[in-house]
Amino acid sequence: MSIETFYRDSWAEVELSAIDHNIRALQERLQNDTGIYAVVKANAYGHGDVHVARQALQSGVKGLAVSLLDEALRLREAGIEAPILVMGWTRPEDASIAAANNISVTVFQEQWVQQVSSHTLPGPLKLHMKWDTGMGRIGIRTTEEMQSLLRFIKDDERFILEAVFTHFATADEEDLQFQYEQERRFEQLFSDFERIWPGNVEIHTGNSAASMRFPERMKHVVRYGISMYGLYPSPAVKEEQPVSLKPALSLKSQLIHVKKLQPGESVSYGATYQTSGEEWIGTVPLGYADGWIRKLQGMDVLVDGKRHPIVGRICMDQFMIRLDQEYPIGTKVTLIGKQGEEEVTADEVADYLDTINYEIPCMISSRVPRMFFRNGEIVDVKNAL
Ligand SMILES: Cc1ncc(COP(=O)(O)O)c(C=O)c1O
Repeated sequence: MSIETFYRDSWAEVELSAIDHNIRALQERLQNDTGIYAVVKANAYGHGDVHVARQALQSGVKGLAVSLLDEALRLREAGIEAPILVMGWTRPEDASIAAANNISVTVFQEQWVQQVSSHTLPGPLKLHMKWDTGMGRIGIRTTEEMQSLLRFIKDDERFILEAVFTHFATADEEDLQFQYEQERRFEQLFSDFERIWPGNVEIHTGNSAASMRFPERMKHVVRYGISMYGLYPSPAVKEEQPVSLKPALSLKSQLIHVKKLQPGESVSYGATYQTSGEEWIGTVPLGYADGWIRKLQGMDVLVDGKRHPIVGRICMDQFMIRLDQEYPIGTKVTLIGKQGEEEVTADEVADYLDTINYEIPCMISSRVPRMFFRNGEIVDVKNAL
């Protein structure tokens, strides 16, 4: 892996030892024989897929899970040989690429199996069968659907059924009625499955919320996403705090221009912000093309360990903040993370945008370089452009 360089004053920092901590903290809470798949889809929730995947494997996870075949192939191209599951839809005509790269894919349609059977496969295709126990997204819903699908898999030695799995819709909620209902439906399907399927398969059900909250009810493996990155899946789980997490990502920039404006001067497009007195205005070289969307106008950033608001509209590449005093060019600006005693969390940004914290690291665009640290020491830089 080469250390890349970049020529701009905004970047994201990813602390890999926080990811290590979050994996070990969950592993300690799980029963001894429960393994972890690190969910590294969507460029590891915006953190950097290859770096996070390597760290997670070093920290002891048994495999990786992504959403798309393209994401799995990126990991293979980087030389990662660990088990990888594609949890989303893979086109039947692409199944041979998955087989050639030893990538497991998700199966939930009889028609899909028939179509894959009509293609030549370079080797066995590993399958995880998805059961829709209430998420209403993908998966078989009934024993009849399961039976007819299994018939095709059973009769074709090119298929290896590795696992069965489901996904919970409300594991992070206060009200757990539907969670229990999904678990009940899973057990029902599983008892039917056991009667018709001759071999052993792996079972994985839990996401971050379920694995942290109900470790004793987890099966062979859990799929650990958001909390591996140090964020709680919901305010309810944050309140419970079943595992103590460390956020891995921070977003940083530097002032590139500072000026004093007279009262009544305006700032940015539309001249919507007007100074009420003499004001120090700083310019930050990051904008909506970097994922810092226009709705974040008014949100605080940290300078000199203090909060300062974004004033005027956020531009594509820059935004302005109101400073409490003059600061030199090059002064650090923290958009997500800590400065001294102050902190802006991804949760706070999510609240401001009336969304969930999952969206915040995902929305930081590929134009923002990622710097990787271990115990505070820089280990690599990835300029994704
Ligand atoms: C099928 C599946 N499993 C596991 C996860 C990981 O969930 P979380 O990030 O809440 O841990 C996801 C994420 O959306 C998913 O779609």
